Amino acid sequence: MGLTYKDTDPVRLSDDRSAVIVLDQTKLPNEVSHLSISGVQEMYDAIKSLAVRGAPCIGVFAGYCVAVLAGRYANEGMSAEDAFMMLGENASYLDTSRPTAVNLSWALKRQISVAESCREKGLSAADMAEKLCAEAVAIHEEDIDMCRRIAEYGLSLLHDGDGILTHCNAGALATTRYGTGLGPILLGKEKGYEFHVYSDETRPLLQGARLTAYELVRAGVDETVICDNMASLLMKQGRIQAVLVGCDRIAANGDTANKIGTSGVAILAKYYGIPFYVLGPYSTIDMSTPTGDNIKIEERDPEEIRSMWYEHPMAPAGAECYNPAFDVTDHSLITAIITDRGILRAPYTESIAFAVKEKR
Ligand code: MRU
Repeated sequence: MGLTYKDTDPVRLSDDRSAVIVLDQTKLPNEVSHLSISGVQEMYDAIKSLAVRGAPCIGVFAGYCVAVLAGRYANEGMSAEDAFMMLGENASYLDTSRPTAVNLSWALKRQISVAESCREKGLSAADMAEKLCAEAVAIHEEDIDMCRRIAEYGLSLLHDGDGILTHCNAGALATTRYGTGLGPILLGKEKGYEFHVYSDETRPLLQGARLTAYELVRAGVDETVICDNMASLLMKQGRIQAVLVGCDRIAANGDTANKIGTSGVAILAKYYGIPFYVLGPYSTIDMSTPTGDNIKIEERDPEEIRSMWYEHPMAPAGAECYNPAFDVTDHSLITAIITDRGILRAPYTESIAFAVKEKR
C-alpha cells in the first residue's frame, strides 16, 4: 500500500487564503473532518484543544494563522502600521496557547519579523499580507524537506526487521508529510524495509493509539498498540531494537521535552541497552533554554484523566488528578538526536551548538 497524504495533511491554507484548513485530530481515528479557521480565538482554541497538534505542525499552523489574519486586515482597509500592531497582539496571544513546544513561538517570531521588515520598507498592508503568505508557505515547505532529511538520517540507524517502540505521535499528523519520530519507519516502508512498530497508547490523550496507529495502518506498516505500562516487558522479551520519539523542545545541553511518559521509556531503554533516538527539526532546538529545568511544562485539564475518554468517569468526582502534558528526558539517556542537520551525539552541548551555527 502506498502512502497517501491527501486527507491526512494536517494543515493547509484555503484556496482564497481566508482560512486555515485543519484536519481535526480530536476526531481521529473515527472521523476524518476538517475545520476552517479564520478568527484568532478559533486559532487559539484549535491549538489548545489539540485539533492541531505536534510541535512542528503547530509551527506551520501558526505561520498560516498570521498570514490569514494579515489578509483580513488588508481587506478591511487597515494601514500597514495598524496591521503590524494587531498582528503583534495576535501573535502574543497565540503564543500563550501551549507553552512547551518551541516551534509555536519560533514560527510566530519568524512571521512577526517579516511583518516588521515590511513596515520598515513602507509596504502596504496588502503587500505585507502577501509576504506573510509566502513566508508561511516557506515554513511549510521547509518542514516537509526537514522531515524527509530526518527520515533519511534516522533510517540509516535502523535494520530491516527491527522492532521499534514509539511514544505519542510524531508522524505526518504532527508535522507535514513523513513526520519526525515515524519518518524513518514510513520512509523505510517505501524502500521495502519491514519493521514491526509498537505504539505506546500514550495516556491520557491517546495520541499513540488514535493517531500513530492510524498512520501506520494506512501506510501498511506492521504495528501493535500497547498500553504505556507494557514497554518494559516488551524490551525484556527482546522485541524492541530501537526507540524513536519526537520532541517539543531541545535545550542547549540536549535535555529534551516530549509527551509525558517519554522519559520513563528512555530510562527503560537505558536499562535494557536499547538505543533511544530523539528526532526533530533544528527549529525544535532552543538555545535560549540552557537545560531541561528551564522548560515550561504544560499542565492540562484533570478531566482528561478523569472522564474524557469514558462513558462514565474512571476516577471518583472528589479525586485529585494531576495532568502534566510533557516531561523532560535527560540528555544522558539519549543515544542520538536526529535532526535535519545530521545525527547529533554526546557531548550535546557541543554537537548542538555546531548544528545550530551551521550556515544554510
Ligand atoms: O500534546 P501533543 O499531541 O501536541 O504532543 C506531541 C508530542 O509530544 C510529539 O511527540 C512532539 O510534538 C513531536 S511531533 C513531531
